[in-house]
Amino acid sequence: MSNVKIPFMDLSAQYAAIEPEITSVMAEVIAANAYIRGPFVEQFEEDFAAYSHTNHCIGVANGTDALFLALKAMGIGPDHEVLVPAMTFVATSEAVTMAGATPVFVDIDPVTFTLDPDAMAKKISPRTKAVIPVHLYGHPADMKSIRKLADHYNLKIIQDGAQAHGATIGDTPIATFGDCTCFSFYPGKNLGAYGDAGGVVTNDETLAQQIRMLANHGRKSKYDHEFEGVNSRMDGLQGGVLSVKLKYLDTWTDLRRTWAGMYDNALKDLDGVATPTMSNGIGHAYHLYVILAEDRDALREYLADRGIATGVHYPIALPFLEAYTRMGHGHEDFPNAFTVQNHALSLPIFPELGEERTLLVARAVTDFYASRSGNA
Ligand SMILES: Cc1ncc(COP(=O)(O)O)c(C=O)c1O
Repeated sequence: MSNVKIPFMDLSAQYAAIEPEITSVMAEVIAANAYIRGPFVEQFEEDFAAYSHTNHCIGVANGTDALFLALKAMGIGPDHEVLVPAMTFVATSEAVTMAGATPVFVDIDPVTFTLDPDAMAKKISPRTKAVIPVHLYGHPADMKSIRKLADHYNLKIIQDGAQAHGATIGDTPIATFGDCTCFSFYPGKNLGAYGDAGGVVTNDETLAQQIRMLANHGRKSKYDHEFEGVNSRMDGLQGGVLSVKLKYLDTWTDLRRTWAGMYDNALKDLDGVATPTMSNGIGHAYHLYVILAEDRDALREYLADRGIATGVHYPIALPFLEAYTRMGHGHEDFPNAFTVQNHALSLPIFPELGEERTLLVARAVTDFYASRSGNA
């Protein structure tokens, strides 16, 4: 057991399986000098819009920019507030600040770890213009309740799907539920490029056009700029890589679900551990398999000693980050996010993990709690 080496993810194994297709598409991009936007990005935009069941996809430089550009394109800026879950990666709230607006944190649901609609209702003010539900770890947020509130208070919904490529509600891809959905294609994501990349999908043609121009210096044509934008374009190499990988996404998601199911079976009745919950009709994408664990840090160390890599997503909830001390939040303001920061442990999950390694990880977690209760 002590020699087992189980990584948290394994991008080399994924590359090994698709290497000929990747090297060939990269050679094609280079031969075409199609380095920035161009036909390979356009092809990916078409492919990913179709995959998402939306009419438009705009490839951009990264997922943080995707959120920022969506906010800007909706005219959200100074004097506006945007609701953001207290537990997510900092990019979600950072994008709000980048747009000149104020992020207002909302606690998460204790079971799904996504934005809690009841807590959201209490944070809506006359200045609230939008909400950014995050499909955290790959579990879709409660879009039905969020949509109800958003419609009532006339709020835009910008979904953060950075961790949820392939996730569904019913049989429908999550991308169809908001005014737009922002994705990161950071290499470690479920659909990852070989560098930074991001995208926005939407059915709103005017919004799509505005984001497209904003991301490309506000230009209508090469030197005709309708307004000032930014430089946030997807690279051709990333577009090519992503089109290749997109063909495998559903197979990879199914594998993630298989390993998650095995973890569930092995750990669901274990004292000291809460396994992730799948609400009815939800298609979890399992970007991360996150348990709530008693004595989390000791468990993490125990697993590390046995060569099993784990992660913590995230060790400090957003309202408690030094970056937001100006807001003066205390732990009691976001009790569910606080619980997750103290107990969440992400076990290895990636398509190539395999049955044997999944069971080894589960066994090691079980052994840890048995050893504590003197049953080892
Ligand atoms: C929930 C969430 N939102 C936004 C981002 C930002 O994406 P990127 O790293 O591509 O800027 C990430 C990725 O790290 C994320 O996990």
